[in-house]
Amino acid sequence: MTITIGINANHADSSICVFDKNRLIFAIEEERINRIKHWAGVPFQSIKFAMEYCDIKPNQITNITLNTNPLSNINRKIYYYIKNYLFSKKSKEIFFRQKLKLKIKNQLSQFIGNSNIKYHYIDHHLCHISSAFYPSNFQKAAALSIDGFGDFCSCTIAECSEDQISIKEKVFFPHSIGVFYEAMTQLIGFNKYGEEYKMMGLSSYGNPKYKDVLKKNLFLDQKLLETVIPKAGSSSKIMILYGPMRGLTGYVHELLLDEYKASIQLEDRNDFIKLEYEHISKIHIKKKKK
Ligand SMILES: [Fe+2]
Repeated sequence: MTITIGINANHADSSICVFDKNRLIFAIEEERINRIKHWAGVPFQSIKFAMEYCDIKPNQITNITLNTNPLSNINRKIYYYIKNYLFSKKSKEIFFRQKLKLKIKNQLSQFIGNSNIKYHYIDHHLCHISSAFYPSNFQKAAALSIDGFGDFCSCTIAECSEDQISIKEKVFFPHSIGVFYEAMTQLIGFNKYGEEYKMMGLSSYGNPKYKDVLKKNLFLDQKLLETVIPKAGSSSKIMILYGPMRGLTGYVHELLLDEYKASIQLEDRNDFIKLEYEHISKIHIKKKKK
């Protein structure tokens, strides 16, 4: 056995997948073991379970890949950090998060009992795209990854061919259609990170009567958005919407009392969608020959 473990750690829905050479042999989310929905941390129990279930010895684990790369988009991160957070309270939090990402190597090697494991930090969107492209039936494909955020980026467009994924465009923090979606999910009363799928499911039963209002009146306020990100589970200080959206839920009233004067706008929305289509239309998609 030559085992590679892919790990989603210190992030909601922490989980692992296990490959023997190029074959996926096992995958599990930590919440299935600890019974805590959307649990975030290092999924030690999943690793233990996988090793027992697949009969993997510590020295058979040669590689561990992590779905984030602290060095991805590093220039933008540093610039943003210096401009906005250098002397703020948030500075500590950001520093702590980066430390966690680097500390994980020692924690995992110690837990597994193998100090020779090679670690690979992979850009978050590259992980999303490769997890879709490589198991697919396509020889060549256009890829679009849309997330809340991952490595300071909310959207990535790439061209994929047999063994190469080449990133063409990125949308960076703070612009995020994913965070917008998350905020709207909370606005209508769902709790915490991870219930977007409920809104998605319910959307097909409603009429889009607020569509025009949203298009006209929403704008993204960077200061408020920054409060959304670390507190995705709390809806209390997210946003206020102008116009007929007021009073849509109790949260909105509560926020109005707080005199928050802002909202969410997809200021880059049109460009964003245009950009997707421009790139995707240029990429010729071929199916793999069987
Ligand atoms: Fe993601």
